[in-house]
Amino acid sequence: MERQMLRYTLEQLRSMDELLVCDREVDAKYELGGVLKYFKNKKPILFNRIKGSTLKGVGGLYGNRELFYKLLNTTHEDRLFKLMEAIANPQPYRVVKSGPIKENIIKRNIDLPRLFPIPKYHEKDSSSYITAGVLVVKDPETKQYYTSIRRLQVNGGNKLSVLIASPKLTQDFLELEKQNKPLEVAIILGYDAYFLMASQISSATYGVDKYEIDSALRGEPLELVPCETVDLLVPAYSEIVLEGRIVPGVREMEGPFGELMGYYGKVAPHPIIEIDCVMHRNDPIFQIAFPCREEHMTIGLIREVELYNTMKNQVDVVDVNITEGGGYRYGAFASIRKKNPGDGKAAIISALGSNKEIKYVVIVDEDVDIFDLQDIEWAIASRAQASEDVVIIPGALGSSLEPSHDLRGVSDKIGIDATKPLGEVAEKFERAIVPGYEDIDIRKYFPNMD
Ligand SMILES: Cc1cc2nc3c(=O)[nH]c(=O)nc-3n(C[C@H](O)[C@H](O)[C@H](O)COP(=O)(O)O)c2cc1C
Repeated sequence: MERQMLRYTLEQLRSMDELLVCDREVDAKYELGGVLKYFKNKKPILFNRIKGSTLKGVGGLYGNRELFYKLLNTTHEDRLFKLMEAIANPQPYRVVKSGPIKENIIKRNIDLPRLFPIPKYHEKDSSSYITAGVLVVKDPETKQYYTSIRRLQVNGGNKLSVLIASPKLTQDFLELEKQNKPLEVAIILGYDAYFLMASQISSATYGVDKYEIDSALRGEPLELVPCETVDLLVPAYSEIVLEGRIVPGVREMEGPFGELMGYYGKVAPHPIIEIDCVMHRNDPIFQIAFPCREEHMTIGLIREVELYNTMKNQVDVVDVNITEGGGYRYGAFASIRKKNPGDGKAAIISALGSNKEIKYVVIVDEDVDIFDLQDIEWAIASRAQASEDVVIIPGALGSSLEPSHDLRGVSDKIGIDATKPLGEVAEKFERAIVPGYEDIDIRKYFPNMD
């Protein structure tokens, strides 16, 4: 029985009663994205009828934290350790002769907009975009597999523009370009949570083969088949694979596109990919990710690993949250077991240093729920004094994608120490509790309540 990639995930979602099915026809232009946006990309939706296409589409798959834990076969408490374990102990993948992805192979007259229902999301977007495609390349030297999601602007026919914000990938391409050679790529659609998670682990930081990380995460070898026209392996059970080349010496304008934090990003010249071969399963399901929503949850999870690891060198960390409201990049909440008077400030210093994109951090005690904004506000309101507990660092390295500093990549940082003091005064901060409150079953008192 097949247990890898999207079809198995859809089965899992159905059995958990977590898959919404849309039988009404939707337009891939604006309407489909609008429906996904309505659910904040936290509800997996299968679109059975997409205007002008015979294919089904699926979106909102991996934006819901609790559901994502289930699909990763982990829990909130274990998530950081599961990821660390996989990064530290990559496992071999398995090459198989064939798989369902080879059911259809197209090598001529490739017209991507005709083949697939590729959505257009925002009013000013330059074109339709493939937003969930995992780009696969092989490191030219180490031959390690490197996967990452890069948005792909549809330029017509078999051409896509690719936005690569990765120094390593850019460098690899530029080196080949100097020799007038293309970079061979494959784009994967129709994958599962393990494959996505592995693609988000920074290879620049860890120097890992992401197929091996995937195999470690899923607890069995990722099954791969050879491509038809490029020297790459791709998942045997994925829905769609586009094989092609990033072409040397060519740039085309990319954008505008509604992206990070819901703004339109820069229009700029970017490399293009020419697709030479399309493989797909029978009745392929086209995978969609509403831009900068569900994707960032997975990036947030990786950053939480980094935040936890950096902080634990200095303080006793309980839990960390790279916040949804901060785009899973800019904001962090962390709870600590405070043991020394300086722990709150030390936690701020280490948290702000864990990733250049973090702009603000709030440190709280272990009795505060860092996934409950109201509890965070309660801690700031009742445990912090601005003159003593707020740290501001002007002009540090920041994210070049965030517009508040005019995209200069230089950003102020702020930390709030909302931990209570130690010693005798701590008694004043004891939370009043109602004995037995947790055990109250309210339905016993109001049996007719909905
Ligand atoms: C759905 C989704 C879309 C993404 N789109 C882009 C993108 O268009 N460009 C980009 O550079 N990174 C994008 N990312 C982030 C990269 O995929 C991610 O940072 C990368 O895989 C991390 O690996 P690296 O540090 O080795 O580059 C996206 C992530 C997700 C989950």
